[in-house]
Amino acid sequence: MNSYTAIRGCFFDFIDDPWKQLGNDQAAARFERDGLLVIEEGIIRDFGPYADLAEKYSGVPLTHIRDRMILPGFIDGHIHFPQTRVLGAHGAQLLDWLQTSIFPEEEKYANRDYAEEAAEHFFHALLAGGTTTCQAFTTSSPVSTEVFFEAAARRQMRVIAGLTGIDKFAPPDTLISADDFYRESKRLIEQYHRCGRNLYAITPRFAVGCTDAMLSYAGQLKREHEDCWINTHISENPTEVRAARTEFPECSDYTAVHEKHGLLGAKFTAGHGIWLSNDEFRRFSQAGAALAFCPMSNLFLGSGLFRLGRALDPEHPVRLALGSDMGAGNAFSLIRVLDEAYKVGLCNNTMLDGSVNPLQQDLAEAERNKLNPFRAFYLATLGGARALYLDDLLGNFQLGKEADFVALDWTAGQQAISWRQSLTTKSGSPATIDEAAELLFGIMALGDDRSVAETWIAGQCAYRKETTSTSRDA
Ligand code: GUN
Ligand code: ZN
Repeated sequence: MNSYTAIRGCFFDFIDDPWKQLGNDQAAARFERDGLLVIEEGIIRDFGPYADLAEKYSGVPLTHIRDRMILPGFIDGHIHFPQTRVLGAHGAQLLDWLQTSIFPEEEKYANRDYAEEAAEHFFHALLAGGTTTCQAFTTSSPVSTEVFFEAAARRQMRVIAGLTGIDKFAPPDTLISADDFYRESKRLIEQYHRCGRNLYAITPRFAVGCTDAMLSYAGQLKREHEDCWINTHISENPTEVRAARTEFPECSDYTAVHEKHGLLGAKFTAGHGIWLSNDEFRRFSQAGAALAFCPMSNLFLGSGLFRLGRALDPEHPVRLALGSDMGAGNAFSLIRVLDEAYKVGLCNNTMLDGSVNPLQQDLAEAERNKLNPFRAFYLATLGGARALYLDDLLGNFQLGKEADFVALDWTAGQQAISWRQSLTTKSGSPATIDEAAELLFGIMALGDDRSVAETWIAGQCAYRKETTSTSRDA
């Protein structure tokens, strides 16, 4: 046990999907009020009550994280590395926003120095938000993908990314030809896929920006490298959906564009999916494909309200990850994204509760829209891992998984949070799973980066909030 280390603290994770047991959501979660997590070279070797394990691991170096709730690291299923500097751009919806604010910035990432500077900001902001794994878009310049993977590897982070293919609908310097996309993607796959914790996603940006030739190469790459992921966007904005229908008249809907090229399947993720039909949800579900729910972006660009409760219809449950979609999302923090997700669910229910039109009442769907803290933090951890087919590697504190986790301070955030939380924890720390869940809801409603006291990657502390007052001893 020479190479072992241990963390003592209050742990909260998930072993199942709370939407599978609506009304008994806490059965999907685990709460260890005083627990011990034992780690060897970044892998979880033991986990359980401190009282049961302390003697067995008495010789192991111990870090005691007090007054924090320790959760598996957050998983961002959809984020844009080259938009780090332009998040929060004012005034436009998707297609105009891309042209005016995004493409000019992304062009700069062909310059290695610029991309490297950006990577420092990107990964620092991710860790400060408690995000330990992301699936990221880069740019059409291979340099940005190289820089991304190298920066992630230096931090030992589990990431998914890939050269971002777009061969129309953008200024010439933002484009890459379909042939170059194929050739460069292959080279990058050979160089980076499963190198350390890096994973490769074949990344056609979106159907409106891809010719048939580009999408066909994406399909070929997937056939030639079955182990790779696929990452794209779908049905985000009504004008975009119409454009996709015009560009691919032979396809009956947006999803059919991906089906035509053999892309829809396991390890495929598309961001947004706001305007997907019920039938498209069904085909996603059957194919084992995932959607990234990006509520902060969907609201910031005015794209629409994702039909969360419909996507999770037990007849055709779609695998869902949570995505910041930073820079269309105006924050890196998945805590803030959960706040937005909660509000989207409630807005959906204004129609579904029948108060506007009794004919539209669907109380079962309305129930699935309600993002209680169990469902919310499941989405940000194990749910995201399952959607991205990473749950064999991470997502909870199961033995053998990678030890990425975040220590949350439930009293940090808006000035008002501390007194609000004191209503739940009279004793100063959560005594039951329900108290813990209520504190987590307080964090998602009033918290942000300030809630993240520490972020750990592969068993090592990778970020500690400067002002944190964590007291620690062995
Ligand atoms: N669709 C194509 N590219 C993008 C992008 O960069 N952001 C978002 N939100 N949607 C897209
Ligand atoms: Zn996006």
